[in-house]
Amino acid sequence: MNENRRKPNTLKITLVLVLVVTLAVIGLFYDSGHRIVTNEVTIESETLPASFDGFRIVELTDLHGAEFGENNTKLVEKIRSCNPDLIALTGDFVENAEQMQVTLTLARSLTSIAPVCYVTGNHEWASGLAEELMASLEAEGVRCMRNQYDVLERNGDSLLMIGVEDPNSYADLATPDQVIEDAQTANPGLWTLLLAHRNYWVEEYPTLPVDLILCGHSHGGVVRLPFIGGLMSEDRTLFPDYDAGIYDGERFQMFVSVGLGQTRYFPRLLNNPEIACITLKTVD
Ligand SMILES: [Fe+2]
Repeated sequence: MNENRRKPNTLKITLVLVLVVTLAVIGLFYDSGHRIVTNEVTIESETLPASFDGFRIVELTDLHGAEFGENNTKLVEKIRSCNPDLIALTGDFVENAEQMQVTLTLARSLTSIAPVCYVTGNHEWASGLAEELMASLEAEGVRCMRNQYDVLERNGDSLLMIGVEDPNSYADLATPDQVIEDAQTANPGLWTLLLAHRNYWVEEYPTLPVDLILCGHSHGGVVRLPFIGGLMSEDRTLFPDYDAGIYDGERFQMFVSVGLGQTRYFPRLLNNPEIACITLKTVD
């Protein structure tokens, strides 16, 4: 017998291991960019009006033109199964003209599920497409909230929903705290929901007199490391704060969604595209 045949072929074993590891890494990147996760989030509040106990908001953010199935069918069906009362789009849906149609097609599907509102992100303004996008979204029945507010009514109770423009917008606009003060002066005493793109509220406006902020912008830190969290922020700061989940200001709670799409500089990893299904809950 040939003794050489019995010896492990080190080269072949090494090649197989390299192949397996390579395929696993490719699979992990693919999964992290394509498999949508529905994140059930409960926001508890002692001051939430009783009629809004159980109110469900789907927050979508940072799509960056991504598609999940043709015409985002997979995304739409998962959103539909969340049974939302409101769908909030918190910016960075479009960063170039080719991505416009993806967002408009998605918006058309979403308005058949629930009322849809939208605030701008930094990329819509950076691309110069914000005005055109908002005009087209409004034609699809989306409420674009440009430093504006609505009073939501439910079984005789009301809450105040305010949407603020991203700071990449026009330089002469009112600041978010001014917008909120004006809205609350006109509607005193209402539980207040703020829709915004950026996730800087705890640092920049910790005393903001609102109850809940829904935002994105972080992409969850792009790569989410076990036990550590996000690896890098939008401006490529390492190990950023406020990258995913619920945080507290002095009065408000802030939920940061990790969003849906990809950044240009590194693919998502261990950080699946997220549909945030947020349920408001009244607690004693
Ligand atoms: Fe952003």
